[in-house]
Amino acid sequence: MESASISSSPTVPIYKNQIKDDINTDTTLDQEETEDAVLKLLLGAKENPETKNLLKEKHLAYAKKMLGPLPAGFVSLDASRPWCVYWGTNAMMLLGDESVQEVYGKRIASTILACVSPEGGIGGGHGQIGHLAASYASINSLAISGDEEAWNKLDRKAIYDWLLRIKQPDGSFKMHIGGECDTRSAYCALAIASLLNIITPELVENTAEYLSRCQTYEGGFSGVPGLEAHGGYAFCALASFCILFPPKEVHKHINIDKLIRWLSRRQHQPEGGFSGRTNKLVDGCYNHWVGGCWALIENIVSYHDLWDRTALQNYTLYCCQSTSGGLRDKPGKNPDAYHTNYTLAGLSGAQYRYIYEGGEDDQLGDYAFRWRAETTDRIVVSEGNYVAKINPIHVLREGIAEAMHKFFEGRPL
Ligand code: FPP
Ligand code: ZN
Repeated sequence: MESASISSSPTVPIYKNQIKDDINTDTTLDQEETEDAVLKLLLGAKENPETKNLLKEKHLAYAKKMLGPLPAGFVSLDASRPWCVYWGTNAMMLLGDESVQEVYGKRIASTILACVSPEGGIGGGHGQIGHLAASYASINSLAISGDEEAWNKLDRKAIYDWLLRIKQPDGSFKMHIGGECDTRSAYCALAIASLLNIITPELVENTAEYLSRCQTYEGGFSGVPGLEAHGGYAFCALASFCILFPPKEVHKHINIDKLIRWLSRRQHQPEGGFSGRTNKLVDGCYNHWVGGCWALIENIVSYHDLWDRTALQNYTLYCCQSTSGGLRDKPGKNPDAYHTNYTLAGLSGAQYRYIYEGGEDDQLGDYAFRWRAETTDRIVVSEGNYVAKINPIHVLREGIAEAMHKFFEGRPL
């Protein structure tokens, strides 16, 4: 039984890192500073009872603002328009807004369709080259729009041909024509192909082998074979395996014990949040990149209580919420749309138990759509603090990825 509830003051045992020597480095000082800032908020929770609640209305207002015209300082996001759309609208859905499709559906579709590149793929803005990350955010956004008219306008054959052009013989994918390959691009390619129902054995040949080579000596996954394990890449690799295989088969491709050990070490005490890599700091976006791995792992090993869901909820509520709206990396940082979306998506992973329910007849293309979330009295969440259930592979509100996939299931290439 999980012992702590989200009450006016967190009841998880809170103590500072006991193992400490006298050698100070930038890394140890940053860690101490973060622990102090987090402890101040966790221990002072009684003085700031506002943040025991998820400030849904404020976060919704923040997400909506990020979808409107932005001040000049945001110009660096000009190549990330589809990302802004995905982060903003997905966050709204996670917060329970039922009106996203009706209010934003057509606008989402026209913004995204304007980014389709005549050379293949979807770019970060109008006139920009096709890019896998922008294409992933675009297809997710189109799924959120629910606009079947727009879905019909997508040239899926052109997207499939482009994916084959950037596919490499070792199973990896280039991020764009002439670009770099990594775990991220593999996940983006597989997720796009999965949603559009254009995944084929030819497209995914050797991809599992490539991803297996990205598991490092620590147990996590790196961007390319031989580099440092990182939470972002761990989720990309694990979600990719769960597109390619039912969870029960994933253990054949990775060292699951080492991965569990590495993931366990990502959750910090006393902070309760996750870090992305060894000797780095907790950050709210790893609620999803690291925390989102647990839903998948739990179905690979059929065991459901390997991490501290309560501690993550406490870190999120008390340390990641900006009281003026939006969620953030850690105390002292400003909120942004990226952290708002991924902090909330990870909260969903902490609040529900995710269960894979595939059937005997399922095949490549089906596995990502056989997930359901359940509430359980073993996971304590205060009334009003629940976020929506998600599809844990596509990181979209439950039902959104499934609807797009179903639409294209009836339309073979
Ligand atoms: C380190 O940042 C970040 C990385 C090495 C890459 C992170 C990868 C992702 C978030 C996955 C992206 C996925 C898609 C689908 C595009 P840092 O050094 O600022 O952070 P750190 O100190 O926490 O490691
Ligand atoms: Zn972050």
